[in-house]
Amino acid sequence: MADPQEVLTQRVQSALGAAFGADYAETDPVIRPSQFADYQANAALALAKRLGRKPRDVASAIVEHLDVTDVCREVEISGPGFVNLTLREDWIADRTQDLVGDERRGAPLQERQNIPLDYSAPNVAKEMHVGHLRTTVVGDALARTLEFLGHNVIRQNHIGDWGTPFGMLIEHLLEVGEGSDEAALLKNDPNAFYQGARAKFDGSEEFAARARRRVVALQAGDPETLRLWQDLIDLSTVYFNKIYDKLDVTLTDADLAGESTYNDTLGSICQELEDKGLAVVSEGALCVFLDGFTGREGKPVPLIIRKSDGGYGYGTTDLATIKHRAQELKADRVLYVIGAPQSLHLQMIYETARKAGWLGSAQPVHVQIGNVLGGDGKILRTRSGAPIRLMALLDEAIERAAKVVADARPDLDEATRAQIAREVGIGAVKYADLSISHDTEYVFDFDRMLALTGNTGPYLQYATARIRSIFRKGGLEPAEATGPITVDEPAERTLALALLGFGPTVVQVGDELVPHRLCAYLFELAQAFTSFYENCPVLKAEDPAVRASRLALTAATLDTLVKGLDLLGVRSPEQM
Ligand code: ARG
Repeated sequence: MADPQEVLTQRVQSALGAAFGADYAETDPVIRPSQFADYQANAALALAKRLGRKPRDVASAIVEHLDVTDVCREVEISGPGFVNLTLREDWIADRTQDLVGDERRGAPLQERQNIPLDYSAPNVAKEMHVGHLRTTVVGDALARTLEFLGHNVIRQNHIGDWGTPFGMLIEHLLEVGEGSDEAALLKNDPNAFYQGARAKFDGSEEFAARARRRVVALQAGDPETLRLWQDLIDLSTVYFNKIYDKLDVTLTDADLAGESTYNDTLGSICQELEDKGLAVVSEGALCVFLDGFTGREGKPVPLIIRKSDGGYGYGTTDLATIKHRAQELKADRVLYVIGAPQSLHLQMIYETARKAGWLGSAQPVHVQIGNVLGGDGKILRTRSGAPIRLMALLDEAIERAAKVVADARPDLDEATRAQIAREVGIGAVKYADLSISHDTEYVFDFDRMLALTGNTGPYLQYATARIRSIFRKGGLEPAEATGPITVDEPAERTLALALLGFGPTVVQVGDELVPHRLCAYLFELAQAFTSFYENCPVLKAEDPAVRASRLALTAATLDTLVKGLDLLGVRSPEQM
């Protein structure tokens, strides 16, 4: 086992059992990193109350029964009853050596769960906005991390592919012609197509009437109408895939599970909720009222599942969706990577599904995504107030990265530079989305995200490229640097301990759904490497054993950084 915190937890628990009886063998010994040693066990203070003894006496009893001679070189009681634990250098070295050549870098395989993961979810014939960018990037990092931990991740791209706007969109498609340049806009600039349809709808009574008749035909399953609708979806999918491709996102057509997927079940969903007494007709609409969901003046907020005109909405689809995920997909956890403002809606969906008895042991979780703001502190838009074209934004990131690369590496040929610029530009945008807690808002700022210092994508990418260049200079492959690892200098010790942190961090990211923790970890690791590299000569180390050890630490750092970035969906350029 490579995680010192876990090892020490077990050892102190055994001591607790031996000192105070079996009842105490599972008490959390509260092992925390400490300023005064590597770790501190803080359990004595809470236990003292339970045992009716002085905290310092409790601490002494723990230390007396503690068997850690193979792990710690110093155990010391401090303050009111903290137990300070300082790890042995040879133990740290041996655990770090275990990581060499380990594909998992110390991360465990967890018990396999089925995890439907709802993310990205753009709308057909609409531009993806920066909010979709963030759910896409965060969702994809979670998908990669959970898969690495051994889970069965079932990607669900819940695209908006149904609803009344399709009447107007289909009529517009018919007028411009299916093979026309205007129709092809859907593949590149969907908002332009949408605006074209919208203008006709607003400007002509006759067009609007046709659009409404078209909605009825769509709902009635008219084959020609369905064919045109499918054409709209297919053209939009081309656009989504271009974005996913540019972003290096793992979503494919096989993951599409849009709103329309559930059309055939909406009637029976409503029926079932009515039969179970959960849904009632109110002012002509079928509604679910839930305790605790009240609006202004304490008025209950309904979840409308069938409108008074008989139509179904977003809520009905989401109910059918959660039932499918819990029962058909046999979910252990159902993850929704969706904007924070949809929190109330989702809570109502979860509560309704729970009351209907659909959830079983499935646990729904909303991974709330905070807004992406412009420099003015408002939702990011273009100067004219229009939504930002995502493709243009990504291209701008690559262009700006190209300037950085051209300045730094005029020696490289153009094709190589272009490749690096793509990886750095996209990596910078993705990392900026990931490094901030997913539920917090942040300001989209190219200069900050592309900076080569600080907790940025380019800084970490640069760290990996620099390590690769050390190996190129030394004329050997990182995989050849296998140690044996020894840990003598403080900077070596700090770096080795940082390397041991990878497994526990990845577990935390998967359990708590917090990719920004992995970013913070990688940033710390890169900083630990920098101070190691400044203080400890690697290629120039005189003693061959020291050189071999330091090369192995360097290679382990590279592997860990590359693996961590890969779990985030960020590439590591060969050179920079
Ligand atoms: N298409 C929606 C939007 O753009 C997001 C859908 C999220 N998923 C869900 N199951 N409701 O806001």
